[in-house]
Amino acid sequence: MKNRSKQITMIGTGYVGLVSGVCFAKQGFSVKCVDIIPEKIEAINSAQPPIYEKGLDELLKEMVSTEMLKGTINTEEAILNSDVAFICVGTPSKESGEMDTVWIESAARDIGKALKKKDEYFVVTAKSTIVPGTTDSVITPILEAESGKEAGKDFGIAFCPEFLREGNAIEDFLKPDRVVIGAIDERSYETVRELFDWVPKETPILKTDLRTAEMIKYGANSFLATKISFINTISNMCEALGVKDVYDVAEGIGLDFRISPYFLRAGAGFGGSCFPKDVKAIIAAAKKANYDPLLLNSVIEVNKRQPLRLISMCKDVIGNDLSGKQFAILGLAFKPDTDDIREAPSIIVIDELLKNNATIKAYDPEAMDNMKQLFGEKVQFTESKEAALRDTDVCIIVTNWKEFTELQPNDVKTLMKTPIVIDGRKTVDAETFLNAGVTYRRIGLKK
Ligand code: UDX
Repeated sequence: MKNRSKQITMIGTGYVGLVSGVCFAKQGFSVKCVDIIPEKIEAINSAQPPIYEKGLDELLKEMVSTEMLKGTINTEEAILNSDVAFICVGTPSKESGEMDTVWIESAARDIGKALKKKDEYFVVTAKSTIVPGTTDSVITPILEAESGKEAGKDFGIAFCPEFLREGNAIEDFLKPDRVVIGAIDERSYETVRELFDWVPKETPILKTDLRTAEMIKYGANSFLATKISFINTISNMCEALGVKDVYDVAEGIGLDFRISPYFLRAGAGFGGSCFPKDVKAIIAAAKKANYDPLLLNSVIEVNKRQPLRLISMCKDVIGNDLSGKQFAILGLAFKPDTDDIREAPSIIVIDELLKNNATIKAYDPEAMDNMKQLFGEKVQFTESKEAALRDTDVCIIVTNWKEFTELQPNDVKTLMKTPIVIDGRKTVDAETFLNAGVTYRRIGLKK
């Protein structure tokens, strides 16, 4: 490991701050992770990640034991002893979908106060996803007011978006498709650029202005979300027009190099902490600036309706009256290998079933505790997929966890009252289930 001279402060130890912090430490930078919640800092300093992410456990242990990474609640001390700060606090949505900058503002205030006492050159870099113009209109003015210094003259400003997928975050950080650095001036750019001297030679490093970098992040997430709503639209048309299987159609579409095969998996729609929030935030920002992004409005609308197609499929099979019917819901997390249920399609499915007075047994390998907080007694949470399936009328698979792909026709035939499977994610093989006499329906598959 190289011993690099630059020292880094991460402000906010959520998903982005902590993963980026341990990865920078792994590259030989001395990293301070700052948070306002003391319990989080204690956990970090005893090498217990406060979030679950593949590989984070071991990496954090290594970085804490080698003292390459330290947690602290003292922003000032961290700033005074570092060269660059990354703002990695949350940017939650307001009721209107608009981005809430409350945490960004308080982080900027804390950094600004410390900057006042700092003699050496310093670069403040935002990493949180913020709508174009936020660095200019929110972060810089606060930093200048609190520090009494001038951006571009006394200190630097940059924006460096993250493109981390939950469950793949460490790999995504260490082997990025690209690094984007938006900067106020050359010196800010060069300072941040130096922190990425370890990326593989072939990795493009983009140098832009601040707003361009801010927009790249929204553009990337909006495009990926659009791709999903697009393939779901194609899928719904396949069902309407009697086309055999949208997955065969997607293969044919994705072989065009201009399109690529990725993010063309039709299903119950996208969820998670980024796509829904970010697309709504950029729509709200555009509308405020008098532009109505019709395409993105539709991306959200298609995605909101997509989970309900699973309910329509149920009704198509067992009739419109779902009251008193017993449902098994397999999969609650917004995607496999996470306990995250934020904006998960399963929530829309469960809500709708409850509205229809159905009873629900649900199982997920990781996300049940989170879901219990949302639905409490209204849903019966079970210890296994088998227990969820037992004596039910219909099984709906919402998340394609690996353990659900191992489901056999015999499992549903012996456990369920009636072997009806509605698959929201191409989790099991249609032919195997249909040939075994299971009533099997799937998003995008001809009935
Ligand atoms: C995403 C982006 O990929 C990442 O770059 C960004 O920084 C944060 O948001 P993440 O939310 O972790 O990452 O999940 P991702 O793996 O991208 O999946 C998002 C959602 O889309 C999931 O609900 C998934 O099930 C759904 N999806 C994805 C589809 O329905 N079809 C697909 O083809 C791909």
